[in-house]
Amino acid sequence: MLDEQILKLKREKDVVILAHNYQLPAIQDVADFVGDSLSLARQAAKTPHKTILFCGVHFMAETAAIICPDKKVLIPDLAAGCSLSDSITVDQLRNWKKEHPGAIAVGYVNTTAEIKSELDYCCTSSNAVNVVKSIPENREVLFLPDMFLGSYVAKVTGRKNMYIWAGECHVHAGIRSEDIHKKLDSLANSELLVHPECSCTSQIMYEVAVGDYKNRQVQVLSTEGMMNYAKQSSAKQFVVATETGILYRMQQQNPGKTFVPASSNAVCQYMKMITLDKVFASLRDDKYEVRVPKNTADKARLAIERMLAIS
Ligand code: 13P
Ligand code: SF4
Repeated sequence: MLDEQILKLKREKDVVILAHNYQLPAIQDVADFVGDSLSLARQAAKTPHKTILFCGVHFMAETAAIICPDKKVLIPDLAAGCSLSDSITVDQLRNWKKEHPGAIAVGYVNTTAEIKSELDYCCTSSNAVNVVKSIPENREVLFLPDMFLGSYVAKVTGRKNMYIWAGECHVHAGIRSEDIHKKLDSLANSELLVHPECSCTSQIMYEVAVGDYKNRQVQVLSTEGMMNYAKQSSAKQFVVATETGILYRMQQQNPGKTFVPASSNAVCQYMKMITLDKVFASLRDDKYEVRVPKNTADKARLAIERMLAIS
């Protein structure tokens, strides 16, 4: 069986397998750790293993390579990209910074290493609010590249001097509040979990504020935040507004509860490019190594370390 061969090779070659919550079930099953971007970056930073096999998308493997310059970081398919990280180029960022001299550049972890090397702070969906809160109020903030996460952060922090790049993740942008309302109507006692990259996050927050959801619990959370919330909540049914890969682990960890995707079309084709065959080939042939030029990595590391320091 391929999964047994993977586990054997992993032990022989001293490899740790990190997998994002959106990975295919078979990949999650062979991983040593499954989690969100922040928890996987933390696992990479502290792993004693010589090699990290990253089952996720390219920017995540790059982040691991930046944090762990002495380790080998592998990704099973170099084409596993991210529409959100593609939504800003380094030239665009440099020009934007020139238009706002003195501003603090905060970038989501879903960015290339080159972009990270131009940032003051990196953040993930689970600590974006706290990262922005940690910046003195008199400093302008440039937030990139996700406009929905950016407007969520601006609303929660009440920050007025925050400029937001107009990028989006095509998967989360496609989850509409109509989809969510339909699902909620059919599950009267369910709670709602929303990822802040969703295009409908601000509208849902507004609806919560004006009392449209009455007694229904609504939480805006990162993928790992959703996992933790689902475990501790006494509710039995949840509508989940994020990529559908997360439902596998949620269901596994909470057998007595029901999880329904807000949209069954919310599937990230980049995440799903990682298959068991490719993981096996990656382990067997030590491919594909993700390397970040030292110059870029040294500059990007500071922004990432600031992200890791803020929970
Ligand atoms: P999380 O950091 O919440 O896991 O999100 C990563 C991501 O790519 C969301 O689309
Ligand atoms: Fe990028 Fe969106 Fe896929 Fe996450 S779900 S990896 S943000 S394209």
